[in-house]
Amino acid sequence: MLDAAAIRAEWALDPDFLTLNHGSYGATPRAVRAAQDAWRDRLEAQPSRFFRETYPAAIRHAASSLAAFLGAHGDDLAFVENATTGCNAVLRSLRFQPGDEILVLQHVYGAVRNTIRHICERTGATMAEAAIPFPRPLPDAITEAVAAAITPRTRLAVIDHITSASALVLPIADIVRACHASGVPVLVDGAHGPGHVDLDLTALDADWYTGNCHKWLNAAKGCAFLWARRDRQHDLHPVTISHGYGQGFLAEFDWTGTFDPSAYLSVTAALDFHARLGGPALRARNATLAFEATNLVATRIGSETGGGNQVSGAMGLVRLPGITDAAAMRDRLLALGTDTPVSLIGGAAWLRLSAQAYNDLSDYERLAGLVQQALEPDAFWRSRQKA
Ligand SMILES: Cc1ncc(COP(=O)(O)O)c(C=O)c1O
Repeated sequence: MLDAAAIRAEWALDPDFLTLNHGSYGATPRAVRAAQDAWRDRLEAQPSRFFRETYPAAIRHAASSLAAFLGAHGDDLAFVENATTGCNAVLRSLRFQPGDEILVLQHVYGAVRNTIRHICERTGATMAEAAIPFPRPLPDAITEAVAAAITPRTRLAVIDHITSASALVLPIADIVRACHASGVPVLVDGAHGPGHVDLDLTALDADWYTGNCHKWLNAAKGCAFLWARRDRQHDLHPVTISHGYGQGFLAEFDWTGTFDPSAYLSVTAALDFHARLGGPALRARNATLAFEATNLVATRIGSETGGGNQVSGAMGLVRLPGITDAAAMRDRLLALGTDTPVSLIGGAAWLRLSAQAYNDLSDYERLAGLVQQALEPDAFWRSRQKA
């Protein structure tokens, strides 16, 4: 049994702040930061030799280690700074024309929606948004909603593996199968996938999968990857074109200009850390904790949860009754010493909580009390004035 209070010392988290938002930016443990620092020390000792001799083999070694964890081959995976960049690389490499449709879910992440808007404005393609049932959707209903939104004009589906504001773990394998059955390629936005849910990219057989390591795998910030199926690597380019242009997927992505590669190279330390904390057992434990925590908070404030147990992972969603200003609610929680995203979905406000190894149920007992305080703005502001 994992002792969250003891394990917390692995991170440098502020003990006075209730950290329940691992989903947004992750949190890098001391061991991974030490490994990253060691790579920086090596680089700065001899920058020229490092980039010419050490880096090319080191980046491929890191890619192979990460790929093995993801059920993939290292040659099919390149590092990118974040999932937003991974999505941009794919979307900007494809050629669209007027009349083409790019299919997303209504729950698509805002930055990726903007990328698609940008592509559409430049090419005359349009974005189609599939509505999925919410709250507590069943996996089959989600897949059916995606399949029903495909038209003869659909050229690409961009599907979140785990949605951001609504924290739903989508039935991604079924969705990929449904899209492929209609001849539609799929870019999976797995920003929250690695270290959160079990992944086997070869078996999933999407066309492209991009995922963050700096969220649930606890890697250093700016460590993410883009995996591309072999037949999709031709004509796939990074957002920044550099010396490797035209020389193949890895040559193009492994060098996009001088940069600090320490976040990528220390991914092996993040993989070791994840394994040391239990690997699949940690992922299951975090999902169970998030599920219990979500029910606890929902019960305490007399509300409902957003995800059922078939679509839940290490994040959970609780409806906040009577809240119309999501930003103000989040600010009140921040002032009370915690941070949890609050979003309006379908006109209602939903709070998203996260569960990581350093959390246990007592954290959500505290959260429930803080949410109760923040739900009553008048009482909240009176108490702030007194303080
Ligand atoms: C579904 C989804 N896509 C993309 C992103 C962007 O991740 P990043 O900021 O690391 O690019 C997020 C971040 O939370 C996300 O939830």
